Amino acid sequence: MPKDINLTEKLQDYCHHHFLNESRVLQALRKQTQTMPEGSMQITPLQGQLLGFLVKMTNAKTILEIGTYTGYSSLTMALSLPEEGRIITCDRNVKWTNVAKKYWELAGVSHKITLMMGKAVDSLQKLIQQQETFDLVLIDADKSNYGTYLELSLSLLNPNGVILVDNMPCTPKTGHKVKRVF
Ligand SMILES: C[S@@+](CC[C@H](N)C(=O)[O-])C[C@H]1O[C@@H](n2cnc3c(N)ncnc32)[C@H](O)[C@@H]1O
Repeated sequence: MPKDINLTEKLQDYCHHHFLNESRVLQALRKQTQTMPEGSMQITPLQGQLLGFLVKMTNAKTILEIGTYTGYSSLTMALSLPEEGRIITCDRNVKWTNVAKKYWELAGVSHKITLMMGKAVDSLQKLIQQQETFDLVLIDADKSNYGTYLELSLSLLNPNGVILVDNMPCTPKTGHKVKRVF
């Protein structure tokens, strides 16, 4: 199982035992992903639960995700969205996103999720051209492009929207005011 940063194994076990409420489909997806060589790219179940909580807390209805992988993070967010909520998730790997599609279907949320295949920068530029906007953006893809993803995401964000960045490597080079939460 991927390890949460800065949690000892004992504390992680405690959190899983007392706080984790992971659906069967999420559990099955996590187990399948952990058999894959790149399995550690998946967010942890506690991070997934936090994402779901943030979707509800911010009352987000439209979500943009950069970095789908096998779909665990999209699934946690889709399960927390209201019925009319929508996610657009960007990736370029067919094999991994085929796993994602299978589990979105199994969980009954595939109608909420649109997968955009191709280079994420191209997908974001296309969304800007189409004048799409989002309440919440999750950036979790190739770290070298984080600055570009952040800039493009700011153009796609609704007022009072939230951008979540997984493993933010450095302070972003941006003229915008960015508040680092975690
Ligand atoms: C860390 S994984 C995402 C994990 C996912 N959010 C989860 O928790 O299950 C990063 C993903 O970004 C995708 N990716 C990396 N570079 C990309 C690019 N330039 N354009 C589109 N997708 C990219 C990879 O194919 C991979 O699936």
